[in-house]
Amino acid sequence: MFKINKNKIPYHVGFIMDGNGRWAQKRLLPRLAGHKAGVEALKRVTSAARELGIKELSFFAFSTENWQRDKEEVDGIFDLIEKHLEENFEKFIEEKVTITTMGDISKLPQKLYRLLIDITEKTKHNTEFVVNIALNYGSRAEVVRACNKLIEKGKKNITLQDFASELYTASMKDPDLIIRTSGEQRLSNFMLFQSAYAELYFTKTYWPDFTKKHLVKAIKNYQSRDRRFGKIKQEKNK
Ligand code: FPP
Repeated sequence: MFKINKNKIPYHVGFIMDGNGRWAQKRLLPRLAGHKAGVEALKRVTSAARELGIKELSFFAFSTENWQRDKEEVDGIFDLIEKHLEENFEKFIEEKVTITTMGDISKLPQKLYRLLIDITEKTKHNTEFVVNIALNYGSRAEVVRACNKLIEKGKKNITLQDFASELYTASMKDPDLIIRTSGEQRLSNFMLFQSAYAELYFTKTYWPDFTKKHLVKAIKNYQSRDRRFGKIKQEKNK
């Protein structure tokens, strides 16, 4: 098996973390046990990504549709996120990690909302690594929000750049690679505008089972692809 090419590491990787519920069900555990194991996977993947030289990560943690789940599960997911952020707040600062969010976080439980405001504010000048968490996020709503912001500014004519600068990801690069676990092969309203040229990678592995080994495999697969961005392949020696 060929080695990972250190000169072709994706800059920004997005994760659609799917399969927590099925992972738990398979073990006859409550769904929340799957989300708890999902947080462990997120920690594992974050440090592995950093070791590999990836600079930006986006995680789909809670969609606008996820409110339709049982209250117990919704509250449980928010508690897990809050616990993870509280426990790692100092570490993010020490390790110069920027935490950003995308989605309408004002609708989240007050304590989590305030924690997110505090953590994003205190880490915004960090330079080493970005972890972007999608919470109460939907890409179509993000696009409409960007349009409304431009209308509020009185814009009559806009460029792509104007538009991109009103998205939650204004300060980030577009994702190079989107990974979705658990066998589903769709984007489910995740970073639709930003993913225009992203490579998509789908694996049957449930998110709680996703390890560095799986990430390396996804990156090798990404490196084997021919990213042309609509252009014609460059011939060698030309
Ligand atoms: C999808 O699996 C997973 C979610 C909706 C929640 C993911 C959230 C976490 C892992 C917590 C994130 C933590 C931080 C710190 C950001 P599913 O429940 O839809 O699985 P299923 O399709 O098998 O039912």
